[in-house]
Amino acid sequence: MHRQSTSYTFLLLLLLAAASPAAILAFNVTKILAEHPDFSTFNHYLTATRLASEINQRQTITVLAINNAGMSALLARHFTIPTLKNVLSLHILVDYYGSKKLHQLTHSSTLASTFYQATGAAPGTSGFVNITDHRGGRVSFTATSSDDSLPFPSSSDFVKSLKELPYNLSIIQINKPLSSPEAEAPAAAPAPVNLTDLMTRKGCALFAGLLASDRDAHKTFDDSADGGLTVFCPGDAAVKSFMPKYKNLTAEGKTSILLYHGYPVYSSLQTLKSNNGVVTTLATDGGASKSYNFTVQDDGLKVELKTGVATAAITSTLIDQDPVAMYEIDKVLQPLELFKPEETDALAPAPAAHKKKGKKVAPEPAADDAPEASPADDQVADGNAAMGRNVGFWSGWCVVVAAVAAILA
Ligand SMILES: *[C@@H]1O[C@H](CO)[C@@H](O)[C@H](O)[C@H]1NC(C)=O
Ligand SMILES: *[C@@H]1O[C@H](CO)[C@@H](O)[C@H](O)[C@H]1NC(C)=O
Ligand SMILES: *[C@@H]1O[C@H](CO)[C@@H](O)[C@H](O)[C@H]1NC(C)=O
Ligand SMILES: *[C@@H]1O[C@H](CO)[C@@H](O)[C@H](O)[C@H]1NC(C)=O
Ligand SMILES: *[C@@H]1O[C@H](CO)[C@@H](O)[C@H](O)[C@H]1NC(C)=O
Ligand SMILES: *[C@@H]1O[C@H](CO)[C@@H](O)[C@H](O)[C@H]1NC(C)=O
Repeated sequence: MHRQSTSYTFLLLLLLAAASPAAILAFNVTKILAEHPDFSTFNHYLTATRLASEINQRQTITVLAINNAGMSALLARHFTIPTLKNVLSLHILVDYYGSKKLHQLTHSSTLASTFYQATGAAPGTSGFVNITDHRGGRVSFTATSSDDSLPFPSSSDFVKSLKELPYNLSIIQINKPLSSPEAEAPAAAPAPVNLTDLMTRKGCALFAGLLASDRDAHKTFDDSADGGLTVFCPGDAAVKSFMPKYKNLTAEGKTSILLYHGYPVYSSLQTLKSNNGVVTTLATDGGASKSYNFTVQDDGLKVELKTGVATAAITSTLIDQDPVAMYEIDKVLQPLELFKPEETDALAPAPAAHKKKGKKVAPEPAADDAPEASPADDQVADGNAAMGRNVGFWSGWCVVVAAVAAILA
């Protein structure tokens, strides 16, 4: 009996462990802070620096919030967005500190890790926050510095708790921004993404090769990256099986099909999921005869791209860093402008689909290549609602179901 309850506890733990990496967001920090108008500036900059979505991905987090007066003092220093991101990152602690815990610190002080420290941008031992529980109930927060020659950073004090969801999210007001010479140092804007290099390293080497050998297409992709670009790059297996058809295309057709894989708008996975519909591509040239569009559709579990010829699905996120997002897909996108619906798929019995575009085209049976999401994918997409997480969640779930079956058998 005892043994059985141990098994059940173990099972429960397994279930919890499997559930934790789910893409289901436990909270939305933007929404919670919106209930506190005195923190609207802080809230705005959490979104502008994209820290809000990084916070929402976490299970255990503490946000040291600054009210509008405190934020105007910070903004008066005219930091660039990358620098402001570092400063605000220092205010996000990757552990749970509710009001009670803060006022009962063992040894009366503790060092908390922060987003700033976790990015690797923080030099030396900077980027931690020393939390000290003083006598008389005062709790102070001080950023650590790795440079003794710099003046000792002043501390900020706990004011009040704004929201506690034990032991996931705690939002606390502090009386002024944390000061840290390291975080406030001018931060370089992220270097522009080298698209073909990224593809090559992340499983789309064949597509990268095709793009690199087509000067026009390559240049169009690179030029579009600054203003916002979403790239759907077919994995190596998909490109390999498509090569006979690709070789058959004219030079113009080859350029068009490459361009067809770029959507000239930055789009996070979350946005793709919520804004289903027809998108135009880099291949679209305005004229109705060259639409080169496709339909994005979220089926709840995965995001599909329906060209009217065949349907591809997003299998992982290679990068999601405004202004560029890149997703791996399991098939080459075939535009209606160059291919006829379905008929070329030798293995699958072609469904009796007419030339009706969009919705009516039957989805292809899931063939050889099941979506795969390696932990590496997840890391790359860390901080984003990556598809990889979803896949990871479901595969984790399968393991649990198998474990349940094994134990109950
Ligand atoms: C807190 O996180 C756990 C997983 O670590 C999750 O199951 C739970 O729903 C979360 N609670 C809240 C209130 O968000
Ligand atoms: C969070 O809430 C804000 C404001 O209510 C909303 O605009 C945003 O889309 C939400 N984010 C997510 C990921 O649901
Ligand atoms: C935090 O700072 C206080 C005051 O400077 C110091 O006494 C304490 O040792 C520090 N705590 C940690 C964990 O570094
Ligand atoms: C991108 O990376 C490739 C190597 O993968 C390199 O040959 C190319 O010069 C790089 N392009 C730019 C613009 O840095
Ligand atoms: C290549 O094109 C020819 C002529 O249009 C066609 O008969 C043949 O089936 C095509 N091959 C492939 C692999 O699509
Ligand atoms: C999409 O492309 C088709 C032709 O392939 C065209 O008939 C249709 O109007 C286009 N839709 C949009 C919204 O551009």
